[in-house]
Amino acid sequence: MFKIIGTGSYLPEKVMTNIDIEKMIDTSDKWIKERTGISERRIAAKEELNSDMAVKAARKAIQSAKLNEKDIDFIITGTSTADYTIPALAPIIQHKLGCEKIPAFDINSVCTSFVFAFFTACGFLNSGFYNNCLVIGSDIYSRILNWNDRNTCCIFGDGAGAVIIKKENNSSGILSYIFGANGADAELIRIPVGGTKNPIHKNEYKKEDYYFQMAGTDVFEFTITTIPQLAVDLIKKANLSNEDIDWVILHQANRRIIESVSKRTKIPIEKFIINIDRVGNTSAASIPIALDEAVLAGKIKNNDKIMMIGFGGGLSWGGVIFEW
Ligand code: UT7
Repeated sequence: MFKIIGTGSYLPEKVMTNIDIEKMIDTSDKWIKERTGISERRIAAKEELNSDMAVKAARKAIQSAKLNEKDIDFIITGTSTADYTIPALAPIIQHKLGCEKIPAFDINSVCTSFVFAFFTACGFLNSGFYNNCLVIGSDIYSRILNWNDRNTCCIFGDGAGAVIIKKENNSSGILSYIFGANGADAELIRIPVGGTKNPIHKNEYKKEDYYFQMAGTDVFEFTITTIPQLAVDLIKKANLSNEDIDWVILHQANRRIIESVSKRTKIPIEKFIINIDRVGNTSAASIPIALDEAVLAGKIKNNDKIMMIGFGGGLSWGGVIFEW
């Protein structure tokens, strides 16, 4: 069993609005707002690394948990844009935080990375061998986007979020969970070059194949059919009704997806934490950033029931209901 005892987030200073993007490619503020709900996103500074953003979010989470770095027993980072292909991001974060020697590893399930990392951390804590875990979701998609591809470049933004989870014997823990993946559709979200299938040294690829690609409409189709039903199933599996859910935090991929989950579950949209208009899709960071903003706004109260759902590349999905 566990309790979240601290949250933190970090957004880079630079704001990129839809109007800025209008000046770069054939798109419009109107189209982006209507089709995604996004008005602006944050873009990391030239010298800023994913690990720098992650460390800033982590320090805030550690501070809000009233702990110090030495109290952390292990670190899991959800990310698909680590500083390097090898090594993982978490050991770099561990070193920058000064939490030497503790276990630190990444989980890459693209936009679903944070919920997978969160669930893995709960498993570690339930083993009884560890007490305090730092779970981070951090991504820097501005570095992997093709800024000439209007299907993707207007959707994503950079940022980091973090939580401290503590082993707690008197908590109710996870009330329900559903995780899954459909590898048959794995190529719908990908960077074709740079892995070991298409190694970079071959030098025979199209320029756009070095960048992030998403078959947006196909992914939207998957999401809109899978995620609203997943929310209904999570509530049922927890033996709860829709009225028992206090807050819903979905991966911020598209406002239309969030509205469809509200409609299908009959949970009022006011109970959904939404920041996609200001930050866009920050991939693994979107859930912990939204959670931290809700905590800072004083929305989340003791014993509130929270439903968190992530989805994306893999294709993958994962959701949990837990008590605050
Ligand atoms: O985070 C991982 C999980 N992600 C998701 O679950 C999100 C998946 N997908 C989406 O959110 C949406 O599919 C998009 C926002 C990516 C696209 O929205 P859509 O309503 O599915 O648009 P579409 O791709 O079907 O395109 C509709 C039209 C097309 O024009 P035609 O063929 O109808 O003439 C596109 O070429 O909109 C055009 N279009 C654009 N127009 C202006 C596509 N991107 C843009 C753009 N600006 N940026």
